[in-house]
Amino acid sequence: MQMLLALALLALSAHPSQVAAQAAAAAAYAPSLTPCPPGTSLLRETDPTDQSLSPGESAYISTRRTEMLPEAWANYLTAVLQSIDESITLPEYVSDIMGGSCGVPNLPTLGIATSGGSYRAAIFGAGVLNTIDGRNATSVRAGTGGLLQSASYLAGLSGGGWLVGSLIQADFPTLPDLIFGNPTASADAWGGWNAQTDILQPSSNATIDSAYLVDLVEETMGKHAAGFPVTLADIWGRTLSRHFANGTNSLNILDNSLPHGAGLTFSSIAELPSFKSHEQPFPIILSESQSVHQNSSLIQNVSSAVVPLSNPIYEFNVFEFGSFDPMLSAFTPTKFLGSPNKSICATGFDQISFIEGTTAELFNGENTTSAAFFASPVGPIVELIEALIPEPGLEMDVALVPNPFFGVAPSMFIDSNEELLSLVDGGEDGEVIPIQPLLVKARGVDVVLAIDAAADTDDNFSDGSSLVTTQKRAALFPSSYSFPHVPANQSVFLAQGLTKRPTFFGCNAPSDSAAPLVIYMANGGAPLGQVPVTNVSTDQLSFAPEQIDAMLTQTFDVATQGIPIEKTVGRQTVLDKDPEWPACLACAVVDRSRERQGMVRSGICESCLERYCWS
Ligand SMILES: *[C@@H]1O[C@H](CO)[C@@H](O)[C@H](O)[C@H]1NC(C)=O
Ligand SMILES: *[C@@H]1O[C@H](CO)[C@@H](O)[C@H](O)[C@H]1NC(C)=O
Ligand SMILES: *[C@@H]1O[C@H](CO)[C@@H](O)[C@H](O)[C@H]1NC(C)=O
Ligand SMILES: *[C@@H]1O[C@H](CO)[C@@H](O)[C@H](O)[C@H]1NC(C)=O
Ligand SMILES: *[C@@H]1O[C@H](CO)[C@@H](O)[C@H](O)[C@H]1NC(C)=O
Ligand SMILES: *[C@@H]1O[C@H](CO)[C@@H](O)[C@H](O)[C@H]1NC(C)=O
Ligand SMILES: *[C@@H]1O[C@H](CO)[C@@H](O)[C@H](O)[C@H]1NC(C)=O
Ligand SMILES: *[C@@H]1O[C@H](CO)[C@@H](O)[C@H](O)[C@H]1NC(C)=O
Ligand SMILES: *[C@@H]1O[C@H](CO)[C@@H](O)[C@H](O)[C@H]1NC(C)=O
Ligand SMILES: *[C@@H]1O[C@H](CO)[C@@H](O)[C@H](O)[C@H]1NC(C)=O
Repeated sequence: MQMLLALALLALSAHPSQVAAQAAAAAAYAPSLTPCPPGTSLLRETDPTDQSLSPGESAYISTRRTEMLPEAWANYLTAVLQSIDESITLPEYVSDIMGGSCGVPNLPTLGIATSGGSYRAAIFGAGVLNTIDGRNATSVRAGTGGLLQSASYLAGLSGGGWLVGSLIQADFPTLPDLIFGNPTASADAWGGWNAQTDILQPSSNATIDSAYLVDLVEETMGKHAAGFPVTLADIWGRTLSRHFANGTNSLNILDNSLPHGAGLTFSSIAELPSFKSHEQPFPIILSESQSVHQNSSLIQNVSSAVVPLSNPIYEFNVFEFGSFDPMLSAFTPTKFLGSPNKSICATGFDQISFIEGTTAELFNGENTTSAAFFASPVGPIVELIEALIPEPGLEMDVALVPNPFFGVAPSMFIDSNEELLSLVDGGEDGEVIPIQPLLVKARGVDVVLAIDAAADTDDNFSDGSSLVTTQKRAALFPSSYSFPHVPANQSVFLAQGLTKRPTFFGCNAPSDSAAPLVIYMANGGAPLGQVPVTNVSTDQLSFAPEQIDAMLTQTFDVATQGIPIEKTVGRQTVLDKDPEWPACLACAVVDRSRERQGMVRSGICESCLERYCWS
């Protein structure tokens, strides 16, 4: 580390012009302060026992439902019907619900939650989204394409937050276009994930890598000069911006005269064509909080957990930032995040890169004064911040946001008296799948597709502990959240193989009917007897295109195999995809709507849910 830092400082003194080179990015990354527009309210409190959505979200969801979803569900139904064997008959209610003859209000409300787990999770999540994307002819033929277009919500955190963030800000391209981009894209357009370039060490030359870190810190100096705290989360976000925001392609990634996405805000996604036309599922990115007032006895004993279940979970959406957790139940406009008080409004604080850094801000889980931390690629950054923009007393290993909820709910909200909120990775309580916003009753989600690519096991597959943890957290707030019964611990998931094939939760117990039905799809093992390629380490921060292709191909099989069946080919027994899987998935997706209308589960849906549901 000492060497890296020394090199970095050397790079700085040798190239005083670098500050100028980064000036465009530094200016674009700096928030501005202006008097708030007349009539602006920076606080929306919603009754914890009768929560409401923001006007922006309500309007988006209702317009999407009436203008986009009828056709989307009809297309998905067509894909399901053409893919299944003639011998399989779907009960009529499935076609009636999806085809619209039960009316627009009875179309299912589907939420998709795609987990954390760094690049591995971003790629696995992208593979699942590609498999359900109606724009991919292979996915349509497989009988799964079209579900993405039918979803109302799309939530992501950490690596899944990079996926969701990049997808929505690039105006909702197909997943291969998102990942591989276009090397000749113009300097402010979408250039792909640039995954071949490591996030922290972009070259194999230590001098260049050190200069790169100096560039990143310099890009935050305008924000610092404008009076805002700058921490590791900002620097982390600035490098993530080269991968998950517009403004970088594989050829210009090291060009430090470009802004590389600085200035792009989350709230401005509202102006993109695919958002204005309601083509995107409503996107949500999660972050958790760390607090000096937290009750540490509620930190769960799962590998990724660092903060207790009782801390507020925050969401960023295009319109609002805040929390539906009952102890806070308050929001502020995303556009004005960072505002110092009621009369002065900040704009430009809600940068996409900052939010992508915040949702994946894991550094508070490390010992930032240990030798091991300093030896890690991120180690020198803290010292660079201290050298270039000293901020004595600020905690460097969290994302800091001026607290929009200062003074709110003083008897319940632990950070009511704090000037700054300390935000961290959205999975730090052990819930690596961002399900919490989909349990908000005002959102009325019927069915959740939960995509889990956490590395829980020794060989970096998922073990279900995220769902176990969500079950525990929902039980802490019983009047706000309902979650179906899932196994009490990850041993049961592993022993019953629930991570190795899609599993449904909440199909049968009457006590589960207030909760959404959960379709769980995990990175739990290679499909169909293949050699596993999707369980790469969380630490891997660069990928060759061939490796991503192999992971996407394998994820396609994970998402289309169902519960594999044994088939005899010649003299050998091989595993094959369940031909009923597309039908079974459709049965699960409509099941809450069926139940609401008092229809009886029947035909193949009965046997499907029997086989795929955990009870
Ligand atoms: C559709 O998905 C398959 C499977 O991952 C992939 O090979 C193909 O390139 C995708 N096609 C398009 C047009 O995105
Ligand atoms: C990102 O670039 C794409 C074109 O590559 C464009 O359609 C989209 O509007 C851009 N997004 C933002 C936030 O500017
Ligand atoms: C590393 O990059 C620096 C700056 O571009 C260059 O001067 C040096 O020769 C490079 N070192 C190696 C080993 O390529
Ligand atoms: C912290 O959590 C524990 C376990 O739920 C509980 O018993 C205790 O009362 C809590 N402490 C405070 C100060 O809330
Ligand atoms: C935490 O989990 C580990 C492994 O799952 C177990 O060995 C240990 O006893 C647990 N600790 C507590 C305090 O429950
Ligand atoms: C609001 O914040 C601005 C900028 O920090 C400051 O100048 C002003 O005095 C504050 N106003 C109040 C009423 O606190
Ligand atoms: C962090 O590392 C420092 C230096 O090695 C050590 O003194 C300290 O005890 C460590 N803290 C924790 C919580 O492990
Ligand atoms: C992936 O899983 C296989 C099978 O368990 C294991 O041999 C391999 O080491 C794992 N790879 C990683 C990077 O964890
Ligand atoms: C996991 O839960 C099962 C079923 O409730 C229980 O029998 C088992 O002892 C638990 N295992 C652990 C390690 O807690
Ligand atoms: C799983 O990933 C960790 C790092 O996240 C790595 O240390 C470990 O070796 C991997 N496991 C296997 C079996 O490769």
